[in-house]
Amino acid sequence: MAASKGLPDKSVIAAVWSRAANVEVERGEGSWLIDRDGERWLDYTSGIGVVNTGHAHPKVAAAIAAQATKLIHGQQNIVYHEPGLRLHDRLSRVLDGGPWGVFLSNSGSEAVEAAVKLARRATKRRVILTFRGGYHGRTAQTMAMTTAKNVYRGHFEPLPGSVYSTAFPSCFRAPVAARDASAAGNSGSCAGCSCRWEDEWDLTLHTIADAEDVAAVIVEPILGEGGYVVPPAGFLPRLRELTRERGILLIADEIQTGMGRTGRMFAVQHQGVEPDILVFAKGIASGLPLSGIIARRDLIETWAPGTHGGTYGGNVIACAAALATLDVMEEERLTENAAERGAKFLAGLRALAQGRPAIGDVRGLGLMIALEFVKPGEGDGRVPNPDAVKRVIAEANKRKLLLLSAGSYAQVIRIIPPLVTTAAEVDLALKILDESLDAAGVKRA
Ligand SMILES: Cc1ncc(COP(=O)(O)O)c(C=O)c1O
Repeated sequence: MAASKGLPDKSVIAAVWSRAANVEVERGEGSWLIDRDGERWLDYTSGIGVVNTGHAHPKVAAAIAAQATKLIHGQQNIVYHEPGLRLHDRLSRVLDGGPWGVFLSNSGSEAVEAAVKLARRATKRRVILTFRGGYHGRTAQTMAMTTAKNVYRGHFEPLPGSVYSTAFPSCFRAPVAARDASAAGNSGSCAGCSCRWEDEWDLTLHTIADAEDVAAVIVEPILGEGGYVVPPAGFLPRLRELTRERGILLIADEIQTGMGRTGRMFAVQHQGVEPDILVFAKGIASGLPLSGIIARRDLIETWAPGTHGGTYGGNVIACAAALATLDVMEEERLTENAAERGAKFLAGLRALAQGRPAIGDVRGLGLMIALEFVKPGEGDGRVPNPDAVKRVIAEANKRKLLLLSAGSYAQVIRIIPPLVTTAAEVDLALKILDESLDAAGVKRA
């Protein structure tokens, strides 16, 4: 670690910010962070899935700099500005179907709040359904919707009401009795898997909420903080059918899965599913705070002026950064790169997991990839092993590879490289992971 040459003591920062690595970063380029001693760290966290275009992409940086010399704040309730108009227009055309409308805000949580407010306003219904293991943010409303881990919501009761969760299809963690190991991971359908999410959905609507009162269900197409859980391919299309049957809006939270991360612009596009509202943030502006929703235009038109908003929503510099980000994504074919690099990475990880009984599952889509750790020989073979995760991440850090954990028990290592990552970087990360697994005692049997 770099010494704190002349910097204030780190205790000046509230301890509520946990920290994955003790790195004093000075600058970044592509997949790399460079610390104050000039050491290079391979950043496979992407700042939690944000810098999809890589750190400080020159085109994005130039767009930000150019905009900053012209206008820094052109408030959305007061004036129009060109980057904002162009971005709204462009985002209203990224999804098939439509017509779509766009609303911009700053953080992911804020955009989820917007989706909930819109769903309630448009349907005049009150209940919001969520999936267990989901993460939607840490504001009051989004805490109530988050069940990925109790650290995010425990100690903060009472939380806003009329939010209920139902089961997400997790093949690896499906009920034991009927579990079919061959269905784990990226299986094509729920056949053979006992996750029974559809039975649970039905039960929820017979025991907890009446479908007539449900405004919307929100779903991450792949659970993020909940452990990078890839549902079976049939899940989203079936959920779309079920919601249409009952007049329930489908909100896709693509804050982590969106902006090319999974090898498509948005993860719902893998299944040809059209949500009513799609929430985006993170990758949209390469690191500047920008988020928003893309919603059916007929829904967004039910929002009367003033019923939602915020001082900074659609900030002009953030919009300029987002336009440059979208250009870079197209010019450098970043979604395609995510698919190609992701497939290579996943295959490499599957080879690393061979013969290592502490790795229970390897899964992912595009560059959203996970290793789930278990305690070999304990229970039914799926006892979560957060200690192994900590050790492997620490060993990877020693070798200057930055990684994050996920999962309700922190039993998962998630790998979120910038979408610009190269084949050579993927090979390097696999080599470091191989060494880190051995050094952390996750050895081949
Ligand atoms: C799926 C999902 N939803 C919502 C959020 C909240 O976003 P933010 O931290 O920008 O409020 C996150 C952040 O990690 C997320 O991954």
